Amino acid sequence: MSDILRRGRLSDVPDEKIQNFSSSMNDDKWIFNADILVDFAHTVMLFEQDIISRKECKLILGGLQKIKNEGIVGLDWNYEDIHISLESKLIDLVGEDVGGRMHSGRSRNDEVATCIRITLREQLIELMEEINKLRVALLDVSLSNIDTILPGYTHLQHAQPTTLAHHFLAHAGSLERDFGRAFDAYKRINLCPLGASAFASTGFNIDRTRTQELLGFDDILENSMDAVSSRDFLIETAALCSNIMINLSKMSEEIVLWSSSEFNFIEIHDKYASTSSIMPQKKNPDTAELIRGKSGAVIGSLMSLITICKSLPLSYNRDLQEATPNIWRCMDTTITSVSIMAGIISTLNVNKKAMESANSVGFTTATELADTLVRSTGIPFRTAHQIIGTISKNTSSPTLEQIDEVAYSITNSKMSERGLTQKHVHDALDPFHNINRRDVVGGPATNETLRSINSHRDRLGVDDQNLEACNSKLIRCVDKLMKVVDSYM
Ligand code: ARG
Repeated sequence: MSDILRRGRLSDVPDEKIQNFSSSMNDDKWIFNADILVDFAHTVMLFEQDIISRKECKLILGGLQKIKNEGIVGLDWNYEDIHISLESKLIDLVGEDVGGRMHSGRSRNDEVATCIRITLREQLIELMEEINKLRVALLDVSLSNIDTILPGYTHLQHAQPTTLAHHFLAHAGSLERDFGRAFDAYKRINLCPLGASAFASTGFNIDRTRTQELLGFDDILENSMDAVSSRDFLIETAALCSNIMINLSKMSEEIVLWSSSEFNFIEIHDKYASTSSIMPQKKNPDTAELIRGKSGAVIGSLMSLITICKSLPLSYNRDLQEATPNIWRCMDTTITSVSIMAGIISTLNVNKKAMESANSVGFTTATELADTLVRSTGIPFRTAHQIIGTISKNTSSPTLEQIDEVAYSITNSKMSERGLTQKHVHDALDPFHNINRRDVVGGPATNETLRSINSHRDRLGVDDQNLEACNSKLIRCVDKLMKVVDSYM
């Protein structure tokens, strides 16, 4: 049949170049399933509101069911988007007198906005599930490395002793916030634009709340202009994905560094590694490098979205079609990267000895020694800092006598005469003592780390439950919608 969209107002067709330039069919594969759901819900509502007859409803739903079963490959790819191609296919199946009524009271503008939100909320749930698996991996590896000594770094210089558990818990904290951001964004995504029509709503007696409920949305997106034109939810999602990818990229950077011969702290599982085509001995941490690299593409998609959406006048503009594919690329990459990272972490081989012996270089216990001077002698911290700083130029394991000598040159007094003992010095230079003294909330001491892991697990449990509630609501709603569809067929 002739193009059902252009046949009225337009008398010529675009050539292949213009067609390829204008069509969103390729990227609309992401929203095919959502579009069928939207068509089902809209048709059900049209019948319930007496806008179409029971027979028309039955025939349209039957046609849609056929299209659903055939899949997107059954559609005519010469149309400019999936919505019109699907409607044209429906008209082919059930005739225009019936199929031509499905689009009553709506526009592709509210339709596409609804489809994007349906697809994105599912992907966001998947992303949150993957984030939580990575959180579990980090908590597990933390528990098994609760006393694995690691030289903590600032400026990538040895700084103070800590544990691998403490280090990984830092990443678990970032990912917990990433989950929170995604969960929060979900609430704004799961709002229904359907019924906004082109932008001015419609004169048909539609029921927006009914389609909202049938499609599992928490509420409607009220203002009909806002409903079709806002894409802030895409920007928000791409921003939270960028944050996740930045966190993963930081982890990847450490994995790459720590896998080098210079560090030799870890070895990633062979399945996450690659080798060289020329250097037979090589084992390269490619998957971590790729996550680091792909973070650039995700941040790029955020930049594209921001730039496409800025300065658009209300309401719908075709520019918006260029925004959508960015979110699919962004979600796809982020979900896979999080999942790969969980695999890397949970199969990591940790070289505890190499970490511990690295910690003995660079006088990582200097801060604790300065603190010990303060606590045992009462001198100000700044003075202790000067004494230990001066000593550190020559040794990283000073004796009480050496401390006295330097302290005397600076303060005219000996620390041993003010209360510093051999035992104090000995304890301060012991990395385990350093770590276990740091038992304030969030510190690396064993007890505190255990408490922190447990409290992370509790919060993770709550996050899992909240996520499951969102997911099961969606499953229930789709089931219910399909039951209603069946009952009207
Ligand atoms: N393919 C379009 C998009 O992705 C669907 C909406 C088309 N609306 C229109 N008025 N041309 O944005």
